[in-house]
Amino acid sequence: MSHGVALIRFAHVYKIFGSAPEKALARVRGGLTKAALLADCGHTLALDDVSLEIERGEVFAVMGLSGSGKSTLVRLVNRLVEPTAGTVTVNGIDVTALSRDALRSFRRDKASMVFQGFALLPHRSVLENVAFGLEIRGVAKKEREAAARAAIASAGLDGQEARYPADLSGGMRQRVGLARALAAGTEILLMDEPFGALDPLTRREMQDHLLALQRMLRKTIVFITHDLDEALRLADCAGGRIAILNEGRVVQVGSGREILERPADEYVARFVSVVTERTRSGPRTPGNRR
Ligand SMILES: Nc1ncnc2c1ncn2[C@@H]1O[C@H](COP(=O)(O)OP(=O)(O)OP(=O)(O)O)[C@@H](O)[C@H]1O
Ligand SMILES: [Mg+2]
Repeated sequence: MSHGVALIRFAHVYKIFGSAPEKALARVRGGLTKAALLADCGHTLALDDVSLEIERGEVFAVMGLSGSGKSTLVRLVNRLVEPTAGTVTVNGIDVTALSRDALRSFRRDKASMVFQGFALLPHRSVLENVAFGLEIRGVAKKEREAAARAAIASAGLDGQEARYPADLSGGMRQRVGLARALAAGTEILLMDEPFGALDPLTRREMQDHLLALQRMLRKTIVFITHDLDEALRLADCAGGRIAILNEGRVVQVGSGREILERPADEYVARFVSVVTERTRSGPRTPGNRR
């Protein structure tokens, strides 16, 4: 994927939470660390000079410990969070410059956020749930149902079209939600730990369904996880990359292989050693990749 076209671009993005972020920014630029800034004036440095390019059609996994800035990063793409400094562009358009109306259609047509749990609409069938994203965009019934049926098939839900969420198992509901997200028609999917609450086996199944759907639909997916195994599976299979965040800084961006073979620093190496230890410890572990 390295010769693709950048669709999402972060250029020197900072995000500071607190009452006077501009003032704090000057001090961060002067070299103050996240911990020192917090101790000194109670401001949180969530992102620290982030520059990244995400290519069209790529699965881009964002990894890091809790508090490292993953959610903040992904929320900047559809402007659920505004940067303190720097720019975020999608397809060459500066998202911070969008008017209210333009932002609304941007979120509906271009970049949608998929939250954990994929809440379904209880009074709609599986088919209607999956077609919902296209329905709100005004796509004709025949067309949206055809797209929904295809997504349902690749989520392994053939024959379930007429059933209602209450009649499905938890795992099936998750798959309906996934099919709906991918059939929604937006080019960019922002997924913030969508499988975080699942047991390891269901989680693996969902990763497989996501990959099957992605092979068919070729979205640009920004996928947050704090699990390197998950990041490796998703980015590897789809030819994508992984970015690793530490205290708001991007410490490494690369293919799964690059990260496993040449971790950029101690922090990355620690994630890698957990994965390689698990791989050595036998095939029953959910994280085993062999
Ligand atoms: N709305 C907010 N107000 C103040 N601080 C915030 C806010 N949102 C995030 N932060 C802080 O910014 C930093 C980055 O948070 P973020 O939620 O992006 O991390 P994360 O990597 O998604 O963590 P997790 O894995 O726990 O979801 C953290 O120190 C967090 O406490
Ligand atoms: Mg988060």
